[in-house]
Amino acid sequence: MKIAMIGTGYVGLVSGVCFSDFGHTVVCVDKDPRKIEMLERGEVPIYEPGLDALMAKNVDAGRLSFTLDLPAAIEGAEAVFIAVGTPTRRGDGHADLTYVMAAAEEIAKAAKDYVVIVTKSTVPVGTNRKVRDVVAAANPGLDFDVASNPEFLREGAAIDDFMKPDRVVVGVENDRAAKVMSEIYRPLYLRDFPIVTTDLESAEMIKYAANAFLATKITFINEIAALCEKVGADVKQVSKGMGMDNRIGNKFLHAGPGYGGSCFPKDTKALARIGQEHASPMHITEAVIAVNEDTKRRMIGKLQDLCDGKFNGKTVCVLGVTFKPNTDDMRDAPSLTIVPALVGGGAKVKVCDPQGQHEGEGLLPGVQWHDDPYDAAKGADLLVLLTEWNEFRALDLNRIAQGMSRAVMADLRNIYNANVARDAGFVAYEGVGRIGYV
Ligand code: UDX
Repeated sequence: MKIAMIGTGYVGLVSGVCFSDFGHTVVCVDKDPRKIEMLERGEVPIYEPGLDALMAKNVDAGRLSFTLDLPAAIEGAEAVFIAVGTPTRRGDGHADLTYVMAAAEEIAKAAKDYVVIVTKSTVPVGTNRKVRDVVAAANPGLDFDVASNPEFLREGAAIDDFMKPDRVVVGVENDRAAKVMSEIYRPLYLRDFPIVTTDLESAEMIKYAANAFLATKITFINEIAALCEKVGADVKQVSKGMGMDNRIGNKFLHAGPGYGGSCFPKDTKALARIGQEHASPMHITEAVIAVNEDTKRRMIGKLQDLCDGKFNGKTVCVLGVTFKPNTDDMRDAPSLTIVPALVGGGAKVKVCDPQGQHEGEGLLPGVQWHDDPYDAAKGADLLVLLTEWNEFRALDLNRIAQGMSRAVMADLRNIYNANVARDAGFVAYEGVGRIGYV
């Protein structure tokens, strides 16, 4: 089957590469000539473990190619996926659909034969019908269907998530489109990965509901963590005890500095807006958004306490600035709130992140970058563990403590614990939602 993928951002590229690995012929299209040139040279513009090798394999096999030419890409394609960006619109919190609709119109004008136009970008409920209207208006004679196929890829684990999904969600209006979609995903359902087929609106809603629920779960445990600190409980034990209840489950119950990334912040805001628009307020989601902001600010207070009330004159080492490990993505990362507060408060900030420097340099002015965590910690009055990269899980803490001018640790991911820190010579240790010592 021939597939065209419009947009070579994170979702588009991962999906395009994985579809080609299923054996489909995939042409990926982007408007950005630099991106296409890079991809043609075999370079992957994003950091995602395993993606470069899988891309090279399928390019070599002749199943995967890249182009700026949308009409050529969709010629003969049975399905065209729209995987362009839907950023939060400035001012009103809505998902900006400009790129989605522009892509739909271009596809309509270029298409000749029956085609299924599939939205992969996360879009508000009702968008697929709008896509259908835009296509029908742009090319009234065209034989086509629309489908919604939201993605649930986690950055850093995207290939595995694509190849071994908990489920694939497909929203369609008729059997003809359903047949094309099931052919695309045949390699998965033949291996018993479930395909959930719904109407368009339900598929659109599943994506928002799932992401908002996961953001709620994280935010709930973050709020419990704050209370644990007050009452002397340990959130790690609490989440373990909670998570063993199958109805709750143990995933996404890790307390931390607040969720970030390209999906949760954007999708929770968009869902809250959709609720407002339909006079069906999403009170819980609105609270989650607010509590997540509070959580990031609460971390700043924690760090301040560990710096005797003021950052001025202190040297702070921050390990990890990306929103989570195994990505170079800084979008809505807690570091974007926490690091400027340190710099603004007068601290000298030394940063180390295995992949974050490239993006981080533009976003975190006034910090010093280090390749080596031990160099970064040298002379610091406070060590802040902000992203749980594996590289930071097995640090020689004795060496770190010895190099610091005051061995104090704020472990905002609960990688270590008070005993480990004490044994290594730290004079003070604080995690999130657990007993520390000063
Ligand atoms: C998420 C969803 O998991 C994915 O299904 C969706 O399609 C896109 O959004 P992603 O943003 O890549 O994926 O990362 P994820 O691993 O879900 O983490 C999101 C954020 O939550 C990170 O900032 C992470 O640090 C935080 N988090 C996650 C916690 O603080 N605690 C947890 O227990 C889990």
